[in-house]
Amino acid sequence: MSVLFSFPEQKPLAEKLYGETIKPGLWEWRHFPDKESYVRLTSNVKNGPVIILCSLNNPDEKFLPLAFLAETLKELGASKITLVAPYLGYMRQDKRFKDGEAVTSTLFARQLSPFIDRIVTIDPHLHRRKNLEEIYSCACTVLSAETLMATWIKSTLPNPLLVGPDMESEQWVKTVAQEVKAPYIILEKTRRDDHEVDIHLPDISRYKGLKPLLLDDIISTGTTMIKTIGLIRQSGFSDISCLATHAVFAENAYENLQRSGAKIIATTNTIPHASNALEISSLLKDCLA
Ligand code: R5P
Repeated sequence: MSVLFSFPEQKPLAEKLYGETIKPGLWEWRHFPDKESYVRLTSNVKNGPVIILCSLNNPDEKFLPLAFLAETLKELGASKITLVAPYLGYMRQDKRFKDGEAVTSTLFARQLSPFIDRIVTIDPHLHRRKNLEEIYSCACTVLSAETLMATWIKSTLPNPLLVGPDMESEQWVKTVAQEVKAPYIILEKTRRDDHEVDIHLPDISRYKGLKPLLLDDIISTGTTMIKTIGLIRQSGFSDISCLATHAVFAENAYENLQRSGAKIIATTNTIPHASNALEISSLLKDCLA
């Protein structure tokens, strides 16, 4: 039996994971008036395995309390710590693009690995890296939302044309397209800065009559999706939707994407958000059983 300690925003997901092999762990995390974290465990963890459930969006806010929790679990006798981070942040800066830049995916992994024995995550942004083990020194389990996406598409969107907005997205788009038995295209994207991308859309006139569905791992500023929707609309398509694994949605990204004319915006609940339409608990339950 594992004891699961959930970060506050992930309590609804945690409730779905409790059962015969996972029971709730009690802990308190609050801030002192000076904003330092106070962490206290009130469940017994001696000699047993524990799970920490914490999606690593807003990782700068969560890292220290996560480290405090994991270290205290170890000190109080937990035999094994599994971090379930349905969204794993700090994966995109996987290279020194400009002189002097910190390669934060490596550095973050180096900070986090010593606190945990295993990490479980869903569709991490593996672009120039083949697997998480290249940067994480703990055991790594990588799950994928591809089948959930295919099932959602089959029940929600007849006649889709799957659109991957950049080369990295092909790893997901291709598999989902095969499961759905739908055509797909992959666009070319060049990022200019945090809020600007250039996207090249080929001639898609032969797909007239299909409904474009943009599929990506992350929606962050929404720039990638919004730019792609604009280009597809200029090509004469109107029924355009977006599906992504991780609803990061920085700043006003969700509202901006809604205004851009996306018909449906759907995400999985790796990060709690109004757009969540695909449930990941069964995926996690199978791998934690
Ligand atoms: C990066 O290449 C990812 O796959 C996404 O395309 C990217 O994170 C989306 O970012 P944004 O919403 O800021 O364009």
